[in-house]
Amino acid sequence: MTDLLYISASPSQHDSHSGAVARELVSAYRELHPSRSVATVDVWDLDLPEFDATMIAAKFAVLRSQDATDAQRAQWARAVRLSEAFNQAQCYVFSLPMWNYGVPYRLKHYIDVVTLPGQNWSWSRAEGYRPLLQGKRAVLVYSSAGDFSPEAPKPYEDFQKPYMRQWLRFIGVEVVDEIAVAPTLADPERLAQVKAATARRARHAASLL
Ligand SMILES: Cc1cc2nc3c(=O)[nH]c(=O)nc-3n(C[C@H](O)[C@H](O)[C@H](O)COP(=O)(O)O)c2cc1C
Repeated sequence: MTDLLYISASPSQHDSHSGAVARELVSAYRELHPSRSVATVDVWDLDLPEFDATMIAAKFAVLRSQDATDAQRAQWARAVRLSEAFNQAQCYVFSLPMWNYGVPYRLKHYIDVVTLPGQNWSWSRAEGYRPLLQGKRAVLVYSSAGDFSPEAPKPYEDFQKPYMRQWLRFIGVEVVDEIAVAPTLADPERLAQVKAATARRARHAASLL
């Protein structure tokens, strides 16, 4: 089991605004809990299987308890391994930039691969959809060039935060804090203030995990 899984979704790595603030959080977590384990997943480095026709057929074979072909079983096993690696963590930190109002496609690909029936959600005619994860917490560190805070002119254009909240709710992970490093398009002085304030919040958020 991993105590904290940090999932990094910006390809900018050490130049990433969201990544810099999330790394503050992870470092504060390590100071608070020296004996707990921390692992990192960079979704840009992962070898993710395609969610193609074979994978979709495997998914429905699993859902309907039907036999799958060898190719479907092999493809499904790759997704299950990634899903298990995600599910076994006790808590999560995500850092993600806004891309075209949503999340980067690599993070979406990762989410599509690890979100599997029987692993972290279930469906039955009697009960409908049910999350299978329990007692897990997450902190989300966002970044965007624009300002999508509730006070901004058009907060409803933000599909990044509602998507992440809905996905985590679907599988049973409680979001305990959200930190928006934004607007990163601000002038350098204002951006430095935003980075300092969000880094402070991130250090505090470490105590919630
Ligand atoms: C492909 C792409 C699409 C983007 N789309 C948006 C967007 O819709 N809204 C926005 O405010 N910023 C957008 N941005 C800007 C990033 O969200 C912004 O630069 C952010 O600070 C990057 O975070 P990072 O440094 O953690 O990667 C986009 C950037 C890229 C590369």
